[in-house]
Amino acid sequence: MDAEKNVKQKERRPGQRNAAAPNSGRPTDDRQKRPAKPTAPSASARNPKPAAVRETAAPTAPDRPLIARTGERPAERVPIILESLGAGDFHLIDSGNGLKLEQYGPYRIVRPEGQALWQPSLPVQAWENVDAVFTGDTDEEGTGRWRFPKAALGETWPLHLLGVDFHGRFTSFRHVGVFPEQIVHWTWMKDQVEKAGRPLKVLNLFGYTGVASLVAAAAGAEVTHVDASKKAIGWTRENQALGRMEKLPIRWICEDAMKFILREERRGSTYDIILTDPPKFGRGPNGEVWHLFEHLPLMLDICREILSPKALGLVLTAYSIRASFYSIHELMRETMRGRGGAVESGELVIREAGLDGKTPGKALSTSLFSRWVPK
Ligand SMILES: C[S@@+](CC[C@H](N)C(=O)[O-])C[C@H]1O[C@@H](n2cnc3c(N)ncnc32)[C@H](O)[C@@H]1O
Repeated sequence: MDAEKNVKQKERRPGQRNAAAPNSGRPTDDRQKRPAKPTAPSASARNPKPAAVRETAAPTAPDRPLIARTGERPAERVPIILESLGAGDFHLIDSGNGLKLEQYGPYRIVRPEGQALWQPSLPVQAWENVDAVFTGDTDEEGTGRWRFPKAALGETWPLHLLGVDFHGRFTSFRHVGVFPEQIVHWTWMKDQVEKAGRPLKVLNLFGYTGVASLVAAAAGAEVTHVDASKKAIGWTRENQALGRMEKLPIRWICEDAMKFILREERRGSTYDIILTDPPKFGRGPNGEVWHLFEHLPLMLDICREILSPKALGLVLTAYSIRASFYSIHELMRETMRGRGGAVESGELVIREAGLDGKTPGKALSTSLFSRWVPK
């Protein structure tokens, strides 16, 4: 069956829109160096390889002043809830009691889910008839281990989503090699690439195992994928080989994301679509510190500079942070002043789909997002 047909997503705009957002009144002469704040001694929940926390000061990527943005702010569309009922081999079966029950191809998996405050809908037998359970530290950033109640399973298994093959993977830190809440962004991006009528250049920052990069390249884009983790870059290559997609035009770059975009800006390189999904805290391969609350304004500022004149989108996701989507929404609108278009922001949610993958249940919020689009 065509995997894309399985994608059930919709955009809802509940409640009030255009809530009065006061102009933040950034002075026009705000070219300024931002002082480095001390880094938080924690790793991100979705960083596949949380770096060892160092007590000593680590280098940050080279800095540059923020550019003073003038002109009209882009139009706004808020709040937008981008909802997925799953796609291809993935759906969320049920959630509750601080856990989620998910289907990844042949395997049913139970993992901790702090936001599932309610009671599960399915009986306890459904939760016990599973292939893998992540146990251990209930702290989002904590380690733990996988338990396989039926039979010992290998580290990886094949999965298919949005037309590409890749490996599901039992990693430490509870991750399975793909973040399915991103399906809505990837579907949007695939659509843009397919209907562009020209080869688009896509930049995937903090790209992890490369599923988004493979989706973009398979749709016809030239892709640049950046991630700090050597291990994750190794996994991207395994994924590319699994789908026999070695010939697709993808540059896999193991580098600090900030350093990379600064260099692209200096070189005058541009991209038509930029996806950026930064963790709250991370490290580049040489120990460069990434701290979302410290570095996101500059990251978006640089991303704006490397958007091509005919760019189709700058897509930001943020997770595991204490913030409203309005904080990234207003930052995006300020950053994109004078560039026209619109900024749409809200939450990414996954809707439970039951054992059959077709029965909608409760919605599980996963992350905040904000994206600039030219129209
Ligand atoms: C949650 S993952 C992104 C997931 C990805 N968007 C996806 O859905 O497949 C965060 C990634 O950021 C990477 N990372 C952390 N700090 C980084 C840095 N300073 N520069 C580049 N990548 C970094 C981690 O290695 C990890 O793969």
